[in-house]
Amino acid sequence: MKIISHRGASGYAPENTLKAFRLAVEMGSKDFEFDVHQTRDGILTVHHDFSLKATAGRDVKIADLDYAELKKFNVGAYFRHDKTPQHAPRLEEVIDVIGPAAEMLNFEVKNDDNVYPGIEAKLLAFLRSRPGLFEKALVSSFDHGTLKRFRELSPELKLAYLGHNLSTVLLLPALRKARAVRAVNFHLSLRLAFGLNVARIRKAGFKVCVYTVNTKKDALRMKRIGVDGIFSNFPDILGKWVLKG
Ligand code: G3P
Ligand code: MG
Repeated sequence: MKIISHRGASGYAPENTLKAFRLAVEMGSKDFEFDVHQTRDGILTVHHDFSLKATAGRDVKIADLDYAELKKFNVGAYFRHDKTPQHAPRLEEVIDVIGPAAEMLNFEVKNDDNVYPGIEAKLLAFLRSRPGLFEKALVSSFDHGTLKRFRELSPELKLAYLGHNLSTVLLLPALRKARAVRAVNFHLSLRLAFGLNVARIRKAGFKVCVYTVNTKKDALRMKRIGVDGIFSNFPDILGKWVLKG
């Protein structure tokens, strides 16, 4: 079972910052997940929400800022343990840090209602601009239109279906949608990660990764029911626990 660092080692440092990614690398992570947005002037950047409210305390949208403006905000303002200012990094800075250590890079593209037109082509160009990067990439999105556009632009890109507000009843239609974009992975919320659901998804031919798993109890349960990977904010500790378990 893969332990995928979720927004970097975000249990120890502000999420989706270079500090969190450096820590994840130091902790031995080989698999990484992070959230991709685009600034008004077309720079790919890494941050969770569309707005800076939860990280910097300012309700401004990334889509309305040029990168030079975005960079001035301290996106570590609300992190409990460490108040050192952190900026929202450019995607390329993140890949500089984690790329060499990475076996798998999960680019989660936040593009609800196509708020960042053209982000698919821009990300694909970036993936092709560095040797080996395209092969390590796994692209996911809660937005199905975004996944479809990626598939239209690239038949080879590895895609992951990301279940949003899913229930057991909605699992079957979701599997159909995942198949329609020829996804290889299906990413499931912990809330729905029970043996039967996981078995169904695996039987349909997808690898299953579960978000977000931050306790030993849940991690061991995921291992028992045979999921392929878990996303965790504590990649080191869970790794040790799972290996011991
Ligand atoms: O990609 C897995 C997980 O990160 C999806 O949810 O909201 O944490 O980006 P979220
Ligand atoms: Mg995410």
